[in-house]
Amino acid sequence: MTALVGLDVGTTGVKAIAITPEGEVVSLAEEAYPLKTPRPGWSEQDPEDWWRASESALGRLGVDPLRIGFSGQMHGLVCLDEHDRVLRPAILWNDQRTGVECAEIERLVGLERLISLTGNRALPGFTAPKLLWLRRHEPDIYMRISRIVLPKDYVRLRLSREWVIDAADASGTLLFDVAHRRWSDEMLAALEIPCEWLPPVQESTEIAGAGDQQAAALGVGVIEPGMISVVLGTSGVVLAALPEYAHDAGARLHAFCHAVPATWEAMGVVLNAAGSLRWFRDALAPSTPFDELTAEAAPWAAGSEDLTFLPYLQGERTPHADPDARAAFAGLTLRHDRGALVRAVLEGVAYGLRDSLELLRDLGVTASVGRVSGGGARSRLWLKIVASVLGLPLERPVVEEGSAYGAALLAGVAGGVFTDAREAVAACVRVRETVEPNPDWAFAYDAGYARFRALYPAVRGVEEP
Ligand code: XUL
Repeated sequence: MTALVGLDVGTTGVKAIAITPEGEVVSLAEEAYPLKTPRPGWSEQDPEDWWRASESALGRLGVDPLRIGFSGQMHGLVCLDEHDRVLRPAILWNDQRTGVECAEIERLVGLERLISLTGNRALPGFTAPKLLWLRRHEPDIYMRISRIVLPKDYVRLRLSREWVIDAADASGTLLFDVAHRRWSDEMLAALEIPCEWLPPVQESTEIAGAGDQQAAALGVGVIEPGMISVVLGTSGVVLAALPEYAHDAGARLHAFCHAVPATWEAMGVVLNAAGSLRWFRDALAPSTPFDELTAEAAPWAAGSEDLTFLPYLQGERTPHADPDARAAFAGLTLRHDRGALVRAVLEGVAYGLRDSLELLRDLGVTASVGRVSGGGARSRLWLKIVASVLGLPLERPVVEEGSAYGAALLAGVAGGVFTDAREAVAACVRVRETVEPNPDWAFAYDAGYARFRALYPAVRGVEEP
């Protein structure tokens, strides 16, 4: 059968989805791969794993793709030699090794100029600082680079020999002029990075591809102001679509191109959202199903009797931009059991998302509802907690595979099935249910958020007295 296919190259695995032109899901296939942390703060994957998993997941869909759309973890650096051979493991979006290089970029270009050129500040997960790190620490590899690609574009390259990038994903390289949707010659010159290394840029709707956050927003229908996309994936994201380019004065939020031409987005990123729950499970409750853990958390009152979790297991982006931030549980008592710890993890992630929402509000974003996606959104309890902490109703779409679904919609636009992204959303995105904030939890969560805000400087003070 002929179908539109979306492929999301994620952090824990690939997800492939096949849909009809009406947006009905025909089939789904997932394939996991490992994440390597060879040193504290490092995060790497083997691009060959992405390719093998993608081939297998696409094969298992059992359809004849009319067109394949791509979505993927953003910012990851894949270095290729002149024969397109991968030179070293990919350095991922949540890798924190480049603090020194980020400071160097902000000094060299000047923070204000950097923000006016790219819309963003230098954050360790972004692509450009990784190239500087490589030049310093692995010069032999750096010398052999012929081209670079981002994760999903590597899979596309293997599949179709096309070497190309969309403006949405290019936005996260720190080499991109987000306002004008083209590579920034000034950034490339300042960092002495050859422009021949960078793929040609097109719009997401032309080449059917976007960073996973823009694809997720599209996949849940967030392409215009009024709604925000809330993602509970490995990372947690709060994203607003912007009809015009705008950036936060201090670049505390990311300013990126959206997957819809001539639109932009602003977002905040919690590096470990479902990643925190996964860490907790793997470290303290191996092989316990997530459902069982969240069931243990449910009986605890909102605020977990003043137990607070900071989710900074691998530094944090928004709002601290601090690769050395660390996670913590604070306020433990003899009464707290495993369920309380889990509840504190769910709440700590929700507080982190609220930090991003507050910054979006500072930017003038008004949203009356959130649309959710990501693995963590399968937990009703977590959705209730996030809705209550954000003070916003959260809508669960019928199809919850936000990024992969968004990629399939992009395939539909690029393949001529839909005239544009708006038509694709109108034809396909439906809401299954709305999770309302629990008014009885509001007081506890305002107090919990205040504790959360106070905890980061306190923990930081202990680390760096
Ligand atoms: C976004 C980001 C993460 C990854 C997750 O800036 O780094 O959300 O895209 O896959």
